[in-house]
Amino acid sequence: MDLKLLFSLLLALCWFSATTSSPERRGFIGQIGQDKSVVLDKTASDTLKSPLTTVFFPLLYIVVFVVGLPANGMAVWVFLFRTKKKYPSSIYMANLALADLLFVIWLPLKISYHVNGNNWTYGEPLCKVLMSFFYGNMYCSILFIACLSVQRYWVVAHPMSVQRKNNKIAVGVTVAIWAFIWLSTTPLYLYDHTAKIRDPNITTCHDVSIIQDLTDPFSSQSIRLPFFYFIFMATVVFFIPCIVIVVAYIRLLKVLGEGGPEDSSSGKNRHKVVVLIVIVLVTFLVCFLPSNIMLVMHYALLKDGVENNGYGFYISTLCLASLNSILDPFIYYFVSDDFRNHVKNTLLCRSSRTVEREKVSSSSMKYSQKKKLLVSGSGTTESSTV
Ligand SMILES: *[C@@H]1O[C@H](CO)[C@@H](O)[C@H](O)[C@H]1NC(C)=O
Ligand SMILES: *[C@@H]1O[C@H](CO)[C@@H](O)[C@H](O)[C@H]1NC(C)=O
Repeated sequence: MDLKLLFSLLLALCWFSATTSSPERRGFIGQIGQDKSVVLDKTASDTLKSPLTTVFFPLLYIVVFVVGLPANGMAVWVFLFRTKKKYPSSIYMANLALADLLFVIWLPLKISYHVNGNNWTYGEPLCKVLMSFFYGNMYCSILFIACLSVQRYWVVAHPMSVQRKNNKIAVGVTVAIWAFIWLSTTPLYLYDHTAKIRDPNITTCHDVSIIQDLTDPFSSQSIRLPFFYFIFMATVVFFIPCIVIVVAYIRLLKVLGEGGPEDSSSGKNRHKVVVLIVIVLVTFLVCFLPSNIMLVMHYALLKDGVENNGYGFYISTLCLASLNSILDPFIYYFVSDDFRNHVKNTLLCRSSRTVEREKVSSSSMKYSQKKKLLVSGSGTTESSTV
């Protein structure tokens, strides 16, 4: 837990323009001419040169890209084209995978940015797009995981309900979530994310917030807009779904607990639910909880012009948040039989023809097994894609 010590940095960020020069700028070294470049203090510029940002971050993003792209691409394909009976849960998972895919495809830009010593050479518009897809993906994922969790509870608690198979509700919720996410990312397009730094001679994307007037940091768009954006998103799109998910899982476990230990299908269900809960818990503890807390703290400190000694920790939590794109496929794997079968077949490099042949033989085997079971009067087969 020496993260803080290791990454302990100053986040003093400042934009010197030729017109403003006040004595308040002690602590910030250097002088600037007309080129509007930003001067950082030594610790901040050290972070931008450190292996944490130029080696560790790109390595992690490469892993997310290499694993996340095929896994989520396959998930979208399976849920859209290979799932014959579409249930609300496959709709939510298809959208979760799509949200991850939309983020992952931009990662090569981010990787080259960090490898180049945090030098953004693709211009301000692409930086805005990258950041809006990053945060859009984060909050989209939280909302779809919440929908999926409520759906899982509903299916188990009300097995006879018609609602559980009502795709219209799921499609409506999905459209509402996408519309909300697209709308909510607009603040991210309204201020500049790139900053031209003088030393090192780089242009950063999102890593440095520009403060025009050190005496009144809150007057800067680049502080005020993200401050309100992240406060709003952390409470409405992180905290409230969090509570919904926790309540859904507590009630789900309660319902499953009532099934009794002798009920084998409920035992199998319970195992699956516990695995799902563990994956969602890990996703929140690693990706969403630290980043949302640090985002709010970071901008609250910036707003008051207070030094943030945990700057390295803050940017690390943002980097860890991208791991949700490779954790989500585990959710599909444990919830959807279709996705699990496709992953297994792909990993075993089996052709679709072999799979079809096996399917035929295994379904006839299942049929005869089922008959036997019916005779002996026990056992139920269940499909988990509900
Ligand atoms: C930084 O890079 C720019 C663009 O290539 C160049 O014009 C400028 O002279 C460089 N500044 C320093 C201090 O090296
Ligand atoms: C960053 O990119 C700019 C533009 O391509 C270039 O001029 C500058 O030298 C680069 N800085 C470093 C440290 O490589």
